[in-house]
Amino acid sequence: MPTLTIDGNLIETPQDTTVLEAVRLAGIDLPTLCHLDGLPPYGACRLCLVEMTAPTQSMISSCSYPAANGMVIETRSKQVVAVRKMMLEFLLARCPTSSVIVDLAKKEGLTETRFYSEYAGRADAPGSELCILCGLCVRVCSDMIGAAAIGFNGRGENRQVASPFFLQSEACIGCGACAFVCPTSAIRIEDHDGQRFLRMWNTVVVLQPCPVCGNSFSPEPMIFLRNLAEASTDLWGICPECRRKQAASKFHSVLG
Ligand code: SF4
Ligand code: FES
Repeated sequence: MPTLTIDGNLIETPQDTTVLEAVRLAGIDLPTLCHLDGLPPYGACRLCLVEMTAPTQSMISSCSYPAANGMVIETRSKQVVAVRKMMLEFLLARCPTSSVIVDLAKKEGLTETRFYSEYAGRADAPGSELCILCGLCVRVCSDMIGAAAIGFNGRGENRQVASPFFLQSEACIGCGACAFVCPTSAIRIEDHDGQRFLRMWNTVVVLQPCPVCGNSFSPEPMIFLRNLAEASTDLWGICPECRRKQAASKFHSVLG
């Protein structure tokens, strides 16, 4: 098993881990915004940067760098703290109203940024003022859900995540995984009038009513999931509230 020195402490890690995983094993809290266990590293936010002083001297993004025997890592050296602060200043310039970014910056003693971004304050779509372009929504949609309903669009300060041609995404199944993984809560989902509104993607998905109570709950394109779960079709077909009630009444009748 590789042994690393992290902030002066020897840490043994399992094979095939990243430096980030080793740092976390050491109980050190390193900020990350674009990392999600289960997805390949992307290296967008640069907040996970650490300083490697052996075997070579370098600033590395810990989420994508493999841990190796004999490495010496500093997570709070003067240089690494200065770079992390600068990354936070960039993020603050882009998304000054994001409470997530503001709180992370405060932890590093920052309340303002020296930089200016043309993007700040420009709302291309509802919620886009909070988007740090971490790409988690795009990657979870394509790599985990397999829908690839959204993607990156434009360059430089015009770069953004969006549905194809900013129109209703026909590939979107309304699962909400994008909103679930978004680190800044930029993606909002509203369910009403029998529909799910994903306004950032200019997309609306019809919700299927529960056959028991009539309340709309499941996006129609997700009905295929019920077929995948044949054994529990009766439970997949009804809303979570009715599912809970049915389970409770079955439990009650078993207890007699
Ligand atoms: S919407 Fe959220 S998850 Fe998607 S790129 Fe922007 S910050 Fe990341
Ligand atoms: S978590 Fe490593 S670059 Fe974002």
